[in-house]
Amino acid sequence: MKKFQAWSAKWWDEEGVYSALHAMNDIRVPFVRDILMSKSDHHDVGCPLSGVKILDVGCGGGLLSEPLGRLGAAVTGIDPLEDNIRTAILHKSEDPVLDKLIQYKPCTLEEIVEQNIESFDAIVASEVVEHVNDLESFIQSSFQVLKPGGSLFITTINKTKISYILGIVLAEKIMSIVPEGTHDWDKFIPPEELERLLESNGFVVDTLRGMLYNPLMGSWSWFDDTSVNYAVHASKTVRQEQTSDIDFEKEQDSPKAAEAST
Ligand SMILES: C[S@@+](CC[C@H](N)C(=O)[O-])C[C@H]1O[C@@H](n2cnc3c(N)ncnc32)[C@H](O)[C@@H]1O
Repeated sequence: MKKFQAWSAKWWDEEGVYSALHAMNDIRVPFVRDILMSKSDHHDVGCPLSGVKILDVGCGGGLLSEPLGRLGAAVTGIDPLEDNIRTAILHKSEDPVLDKLIQYKPCTLEEIVEQNIESFDAIVASEVVEHVNDLESFIQSSFQVLKPGGSLFITTINKTKISYILGIVLAEKIMSIVPEGTHDWDKFIPPEELERLLESNGFVVDTLRGMLYNPLMGSWSWFDDTSVNYAVHASKTVRQEQTSDIDFEKEQDSPKAAEAST
């Protein structure tokens, strides 16, 4: 959090420490938009995400919240760092339409769970889970605040030798694409492990795609290989065990069950 505190005023400098995140919008915004549009029959032409409630967890200065708001979504951006939220609020206030569609709060996901059970159609957590201490609790909280069938979008970094070389040695120490100390390799997560965590906590993973950053062009593209950066889309299911537990309890209380037990 100290690292992000030091750069909290720099979010909207397109050439600065967050330039790779600005560039990532070129692929992550269509990724989120297209999957959400494919889940609904009704689209307003100018505002394809109109009426969709999105939670942007770890929103930073709002680099992803704003383009999603421009597509018509009602976005709630949260980030534990107050200074990030201050920057995000100041920036969206320059645009009256965004100002109405987006709200920002300085808090963690865990802190808002109870007041937001099954409230959101989608969650985006882009370049965040590699900074989270307890990923399983993060996924469980995501499950709770999503409506049934809701979407969870994650972009993050794989835990491989090549991700250490490209993501830490090259990006931080040699090319200074991101400041030194941004990432901790121990917190990187292999896609199989993320998939397992998601699926054991009530999600179905339907999309996993590799992402490639070209530091010379400052651009991102989709890539067959997930060994460095990747994006995941998972949908919240209704848990089977819960349904059968409830049915089982109902059966126990039913007159037939009472009859059978006498
Ligand atoms: C690399 S930035 C990504 C910002 C934004 N998602 C984007 O892509 O533009 C990581 C953000 O995650 C936030 N963060 C760090 N730890 C977090 C946690 N445990 N829960 C939620 N957000 C966290 C940081 O404050 C920072 O704003």
